[in-house]
Amino acid sequence: MGRIKALDKLTISKIAAGEVVERPVAVVKELIENALDAGATEIVADIEDGGRKLIRVSDNGTGMSREDAEMCLKSHSTSKLGSIDDLERVHTLGFRGEALHSIGSVSTLTVTTSDNENGEGWRVRMEGGAEKPLEAAARARGSTVEVENLFYNVPARRKFIKSARSEIQAVNSMMSKMIVAYPGVAFTQTHNGSPVFKAAGAADMKERIRYIFGKDIADKVARSDGEMAGMRLEAWFTMPDLAFPNRRYQMFVVNGRVVNDKHLAAAVQVACRGLVPSGRHCMAILFLDAPASDIDPNVHPTKSEVRFLSPHDVHSLVYRTIRGRFTEPGIIEPKEILNPIKERNEPAAAGRPSSQHELNIQVPEKPERSAATESSEVHAHPFDAEAAPRPLTQSVPENRSSIRKTTAENEYREPSRIAGHDFKVLGQFFKTYILIDLDGYPMFIDQHVASERIIYNELRRKTKNSAEQLQLISEPVETPRDVYEILSRNLERAREAGLTIEPFGERAFIIRAVAHSAGPFDPVELLAAIADEIRSAPDKAPENLLTGRLLTVAACRMAVKAGQTLSHSEMDALVERYLKEEFNRTCPHGRPITHKLTREALDVWFKR
Ligand SMILES: Nc1ncnc2c1ncn2[C@@H]1O[C@H](COP(=O)(O)OP(=O)(O)O)[C@@H](O)[C@H]1O
Ligand SMILES: [Mg+2]
Repeated sequence: MGRIKALDKLTISKIAAGEVVERPVAVVKELIENALDAGATEIVADIEDGGRKLIRVSDNGTGMSREDAEMCLKSHSTSKLGSIDDLERVHTLGFRGEALHSIGSVSTLTVTTSDNENGEGWRVRMEGGAEKPLEAAARARGSTVEVENLFYNVPARRKFIKSARSEIQAVNSMMSKMIVAYPGVAFTQTHNGSPVFKAAGAADMKERIRYIFGKDIADKVARSDGEMAGMRLEAWFTMPDLAFPNRRYQMFVVNGRVVNDKHLAAAVQVACRGLVPSGRHCMAILFLDAPASDIDPNVHPTKSEVRFLSPHDVHSLVYRTIRGRFTEPGIIEPKEILNPIKERNEPAAAGRPSSQHELNIQVPEKPERSAATESSEVHAHPFDAEAAPRPLTQSVPENRSSIRKTTAENEYREPSRIAGHDFKVLGQFFKTYILIDLDGYPMFIDQHVASERIIYNELRRKTKNSAEQLQLISEPVETPRDVYEILSRNLERAREAGLTIEPFGERAFIIRAVAHSAGPFDPVELLAAIADEIRSAPDKAPENLLTGRLLTVAACRMAVKAGQTLSHSEMDALVERYLKEEFNRTCPHGRPITHKLTREALDVWFKR
C-alpha cells in the first residue's frame, strides 16, 4: 500500500486555520475586520481568559440575510470577491472567504445576525468543523460572532497559546492600532468583564491619538500631507520633539488596512535622520491611499503585509511629506536639507542617503510652542531653583539658549583645579563635544556620554536611599496606555531606577522624585524607555541585572543630550563633576567619553 494519503476535510481546515488564526489576537482581528467591512460604526469585543475561553465581537453593520448567514461558514465563501479579476480592486479588508470557516473548524463558533429593522435574525453554529442547522434568533441589525474554546481540538496549537496576560496584551495592542486607524468607529473592549477600551465614535485623529498615546504625546504630534503619483499620504508624527527606543509607536494604514511594511518603516527612518538621535524612533502614523491596482494585499496569510507596485514612489512620498515639514522657510537653512528630487534619481541611496548631508542638519527650534510649554514658563525662572522644587518642563532648553547669548563670548577664564587636575573649558563644538584644556592637553569630551556616566554613577550610589532624591512636583504625565499598564505594575522597579512615580487617574503618572537629572529631560520619553526595558527583560533575568539596565536607561534619558547648546557655566559644572568621577572612562553602554590629543599625535598630523 502506498504511503501517500489524501487528508480529510477537517484536517485540511485545521491546517488552514493554523495559518490564518495563529493566536487569539488573529481571531479578534479577523472578526473586527469583518465588522468594518460590514460598515459598522460601533464594535464591541469581549474577551475572556486571554481569548481561550471566549472571543465575542458584536457590530452594528449591515448584518447578513438568511441566505448569507447560511453561506458564511462554508469554506471559501465570501461576498467580497467574485473572480480573480476583482483582486485588482479589493477595497475590503477580507476577501478570501476563509476566516469564519477556519475559525469554526478549531472552536465552537456562533454567528447571530440580522439585516433588517424588524429584529428578525438568524443564528448559525459550527462545532469542531461540523455545521449545525440555522435557527431563528432575534437581533437588531448587525452581527455578533462568538468563538468559544479556541483550539480545543488542536492540542498542539493550544499548547502554544501563551499566558492569558500575554495573549490579552497582544489583543490590546492590536486593538489600539484599530482604534487609531478607524477614528470614525466607536470601539469598546473588555477582558474578563473589565473595561479595557472605550473609544467614542466619530472622533478626529488628535482625539484618538490622545486616547491611545496620552495628552503629552498628542500635544506634540504634527501632521503633514502629501500627494504623488495618484497616492495620498496623511502623516502624523512626534519628531523632532519625542523619540522612543523602538518602533512600537509607528503604524501604517494602507488603503484602510493596518499593515507592517518595511518600505514605509525605512522611509520614516530616513526622514528622521539627524532630527532624532540615532537608534531612536519617532511616533509615526501614516495613512496612505493609493489606487487599488498599485497594491497587492494578498501576500501574507493574515494580510498584514502588502506589496507596492512602485515602492520607490511610496518611499519618496513618505520622505517628502515628513521631511518637507522641516524645509519650511526659517526652520532649517536650505543648504542643510537633503534634496528629495536628487534622491529619487539615485535608487541605491534611497535606503540610506549619504550621511554627509545629514550630519549638518540641526534640530530646529520648535516651530510652535505647545500650551504646556507656555504655562510652564511661569515656573521656569532660573532664580527660583533654590526655593521651589524644580519643575519638569520643556521650557528649560529655551531658557538655556537665552543664557547662552550672554555667556557665549570668549571671555578669559582661570583654570579650575579639580581632583588633582587643572582644567579650563575652551568651548563647545557641533553642540556635542566640549573642548577643554586638561593639564595642558587639549581634550574633547562627549557631553552626552559624560553626563550619562555621571548620572549613572550617582544613581548607583543614591537610589537605595530615596531621601536623597530630588523632590519634584510635576504635572501629571499622560503616557501611552501600554506604558501605563507596565509601569503601574512595576512602581518599585522604577523607584530602584531612581524614579518615584505615582499613578494618577486612569493613565497618568505624577513624578514625585527623581534621583538625578543633569538636563531637561522629557518625562514621556523617560517613562516609555523604562517601561520598554521592563517589557523586554527576560522573565528570568536576575533582579539586579534588570535594575542595572533600568539605571542605564534612566541615566541616558536624563542626561544632557547631544545637539544641546550648553552655556559656559553648564560646561564647567559638567566637566568638573565628570573629572571627579572615579569610573569614568566609558559610558554605561561602553562608549568612550573623552579623547585627549597628545603632542605626538599633533606632530604626526603636521608631519613634523
Ligand atoms: N460581521 C459581519 N457582518 C456582516 N457580514 C459578515 C460579517 N462577518 C462575516 N460576514 C460575511 O461572511 C463572509 C465570510 O467571512 P470571512 O470568512 O471572514 O471571509 P471574507 O471576509 O474574506 O469575505 C463575508 O464575506 C461576509 O459576507
Ligand atoms: Mg473576513
